[in-house]
Amino acid sequence: NAPPPPGPPRFKGTKLVHDRAHPWKPLKRGDERGPCPGMNTLASHGYISRDGVASPSEMITAVQEGFNMENKLAIFVTYMAHLMNGNLVTDKLSIGGKTKKTGPNPPAPAHAGGFNVHGTFEGDAGMTRADAFFGDNHSFNQTLFDKFVDFSNRYGDGFYNLTVAGELRFQRLQDSIATNPEFSFKNVRFPTAYAESVFPINFFVDGRKKEKKLDMDSARSFFKDMRFPPDFFRSAMPIGSEGINEVFAMHPFLPGGNVDGKVNNFVVDPTAGDLTKPCVLYDDILNTVKGLYPNPTGLLRRNLIKNLHHFYSGFAAILGEECVEKFPYGQ
Ligand code: HEM
Repeated sequence: NAPPPPGPPRFKGTKLVHDRAHPWKPLKRGDERGPCPGMNTLASHGYISRDGVASPSEMITAVQEGFNMENKLAIFVTYMAHLMNGNLVTDKLSIGGKTKKTGPNPPAPAHAGGFNVHGTFEGDAGMTRADAFFGDNHSFNQTLFDKFVDFSNRYGDGFYNLTVAGELRFQRLQDSIATNPEFSFKNVRFPTAYAESVFPINFFVDGRKKEKKLDMDSARSFFKDMRFPPDFFRSAMPIGSEGINEVFAMHPFLPGGNVDGKVNNFVVDPTAGDLTKPCVLYDDILNTVKGLYPNPTGLLRRNLIKNLHHFYSGFAAILGEECVEKFPYGQ
């Protein structure tokens, strides 16, 4: 019931992905969409089920096919999401909110709540999504997108590039420090935020273009309309978080959050995971999973064991070769 993840695709070059077999379609009632513009777009073009509910294997195949995401990164990120937000018995995960389509509820405190659940994968200081504190953590936010455009004009001559990514990432952190009394930025949220800052450059720029910079019409198409630009070609090679270290180096930042429910009260958490402590990150993810599933039995337990191993295989290849695999539910 929890099959091994797909391997890399055979053809690894660029190709037309906005093709006849994958037309964009508007949302239907009950379709799930959420904070990830990449997955939203894949759903709206039918690379995963258009209702936004799919298995991890389907999601990995889709990000490889539609965006040329590198296999191990796709495995790492997808299983991380699935372990925290998916249904491990039915092997289904929602890219948006909680839905019956993922199957019967798991035993509490597990929730199978989908990508939208705050504080698992989804976190603060996103580029085009507001912090959960302000109410809606998953919908396209026009005010924030205006800021994305403004920064692209100021630092990128009208395009989103690595310089813009570095400036906007830092500004979004400052915004959250100044306005969100519950701002948190550590562990899982640390690498995901920096990675997501380079994704528009690595994945949303047409694979035939030489220059790695994203025009604003294409940006709006992905972030807002969940739609490939006309005639869109995917990346010319399998790609992941390339550029993340340059973005970080522009404005280095330590993990932490606002404390005591006060804005402008950011305190560094020296025990927390960031880009330099992959094994702390691994432990944090395992602790979150153990918190969700304190006493699993039967198929649930067997699938936890399998999914944790799939997750580790991707995580170790990308970040944590030196982190020893752990087996909280046995082997
Ligand atoms: C954000 C999941 C692949 C682009 C997110 C978020 C989640 C997520 C949960 C919300 C995090 C947050 O900002 O709070 C996943 C999973 C993937 C995946 C499980 C499986 C491989 C991709 C791909 C792309 C992409 C292939 C690009 C084509 C983005 C971007 C954001 C994001 C740009 C940030 C949105 C913003 O800050 O406004 N993703 N994602 N993701 N994802 Fe994905």
